[in-house]
Amino acid sequence: MLDAYVPRTSPPAPYFRKLRPFERGAYLGHLRGLSVDDRRLRFHAITSDEQLEHHAAGIDFACTIILGAFVEGVLVGVGEVSFMHPPRETRPEEAEIAVSVASAVRGRGIGGALTGRALRIARNRGARAVWMFCLPDNTPMQKIARSLDGQLTLHQGTFDARMELTRATTLTRIGETFEDGVGVARSVSVLVFTSCQPPVLTP
Ligand SMILES: CC(C)(COP(=O)(O)OP(=O)(O)OC[C@H]1O[C@@H](n2cnc3c(N)ncnc32)[C@H](O)[C@@H]1OP(=O)(O)O)[C@@H](O)C(=O)NCCC(=O)NCCS
Repeated sequence: MLDAYVPRTSPPAPYFRKLRPFERGAYLGHLRGLSVDDRRLRFHAITSDEQLEHHAAGIDFACTIILGAFVEGVLVGVGEVSFMHPPRETRPEEAEIAVSVASAVRGRGIGGALTGRALRIARNRGARAVWMFCLPDNTPMQKIARSLDGQLTLHQGTFDARMELTRATTLTRIGETFEDGVGVARSVSVLVFTSCQPPVLTP
C-alpha cells in the first residue's frame, strides 16, 4: 500500500577537512555553542566567552592542526591537534588532542571519527604518541580513548590517555589527503549550491 510507505531517512553523513587560519571565527562559533558543562569537559574549567575568544585568537596554525567535521556545510565538530613545535620543521615526538562535538549531533560517531582522524594527522607528521586529557565524569571521551587503545591513568583528578602510534604509511598519508580533498570539494559545492538558490519572491 503506497500510503503506508515511509521512506527510510538517515541523518546526512559528516565530512571532514582541516580549517584554515581565516576560519577561526567558525571555530569560535562552534566553541561558543558548547554549554557551560561541555566547556568544563573540554577545557577542564568553567570557561567564559572571552576565554574562548582568547583561545581561538591564540591558535598558532604552524603548531596546531584543526580538523573540522561538517554536516551540510555546518561545522559541527572539531579535533584540535597540538604539537610542541611546527611539525613541518621538527619531527614531533608527541601531540595532544582535544575534541568537541555539537550536542545536536552527538552519539552518531562523530567524536570517535574526529579522534581517529586526529591520531592519523599526528601519525602522518611522525609523532610516536598522542595524549588526551579527560575529566573523570567524561564517559564518552574515555570510551573513545579506550576504543583507540588508549592507556588511561588517573593523575591529579584527570584521566591522562596516552595512545601509542605506529609509523605512518603511504595508506595513512593518502587517506588524510583524500579525505581533505573530499571535504574541500563538499564545502565548495555547498557554497556554490547555496549561492545558486533562486531568490524567494514575496508578493
Ligand atoms: C566527548 C564528545 C566529543 C563525544 O562526541 P560524540 O560525537 O557524541 O562521540 P561518539 O558518538 O563517537 O560516541 C563516543 C562513545 O561515547 C558513547 N556516548 C555518547 N554519549 C554518551 C553519554 N551521554 N553517556 C555515556 N556514553 C556516551 C557512545 O555510545 C560511544 O561509545 P561506543 O563507541 O562504545 O558506542 C562530546 O560528548 C563532546 O563534545 N563533549 C564536550 C566536550 C568534551 O568533553 N571534549 C573532550 C575533551 S578531551
